[in-house]
Amino acid sequence: MSIALPTPTYLTVRAPAKINLHLGVGAARADGYHGLYTVYTSIGLYDDVTVAEATDTSIRIQPAEYVDVAQVPLAPGTNIVHAAADKLADLHGVQVTADVLIDKQIPVAGGLAGGSADGAAALVALDRLFDLETPDADLLRLAGELGSDVPFALLGGTAVGTGRGELVEPVADPGTWWWVVVPSPDGMSTPEVYRHFDELSPDAAPEPPRAEELLAALAGDDVHGVAAALRNDLQPAAVDLRPQLGDLIARGEEAGALRGLVSGSGPTCVFLCGDSDHARAVAAELGAEHDVVLVANGPVAGAHVVEYS
Ligand code: C5P
Repeated sequence: MSIALPTPTYLTVRAPAKINLHLGVGAARADGYHGLYTVYTSIGLYDDVTVAEATDTSIRIQPAEYVDVAQVPLAPGTNIVHAAADKLADLHGVQVTADVLIDKQIPVAGGLAGGSADGAAALVALDRLFDLETPDADLLRLAGELGSDVPFALLGGTAVGTGRGELVEPVADPGTWWWVVVPSPDGMSTPEVYRHFDELSPDAAPEPPRAEELLAALAGDDVHGVAAALRNDLQPAAVDLRPQLGDLIARGEEAGALRGLVSGSGPTCVFLCGDSDHARAVAAELGAEHDVVLVANGPVAGAHVVEYS
């Protein structure tokens, strides 16, 4: 039986931030991207994208107090939401234009894939608003064209990413992981961090390192095993470009976190803790020195509708 639902007049799709539990980076490929073997996990820190039909696309941002909207590219042709609308319009041969409001909780240019979350949320939201019924395989392909991290934001949960990160495969992760998240007021450029990785690692192997121990610890709900296996090959480059990040990681571990690491290309640092009380205690210590210290857990769902009218 199928139930025909009316096409909505507006809807809101929520998409999560990501952390790379393992970011294995291979040598630069001929196309300039780096081959990755990464293990993404999602955390309960979200952007909500609300769309309503309009004759042109316009984007407004409603930022959390710690989010610097000045760093969000908003001009037509520069925001990932415009790109998502254009990709759906090309695929289906229809006009896809909307008023878009982004309720932004994910720090910008922080290594948490906030832009990618907006791209994934926009794909799902516009697909539903225009009743396009895009097959999942096509949504994942368009997401991969929008950016390496966008397919994971569609999927959520915990997943291995290969290729340049866009080929995602869910993995077993029955646990709940508690994180302290410390954003930085100044973003970092992902291409710049990758360039510095190339300078620091001229002999990187083409095949990125894999993550067997981490995957076994995730499947076994073993937080100490996960802590021991966390790895980010971009961290030396990010810390070399911004040495304060090394100090912050050391402070978080002194405060009792099981492990700290740079998230993706940085500069956000994340600290794995044993449970929610532990995370709140570490956050309280780091909060004495940093204006913004968040606590989040995961894994959580990928891009999904939360409001519909
Ligand atoms: O795919 P995305 O647009 O997020 O990538 C941003 C930039 O990060 C790329 O232009 C590239 O410089 C770098 N990158 C890379 N290798 C990857 C992913 C991203 O070199 N696997």
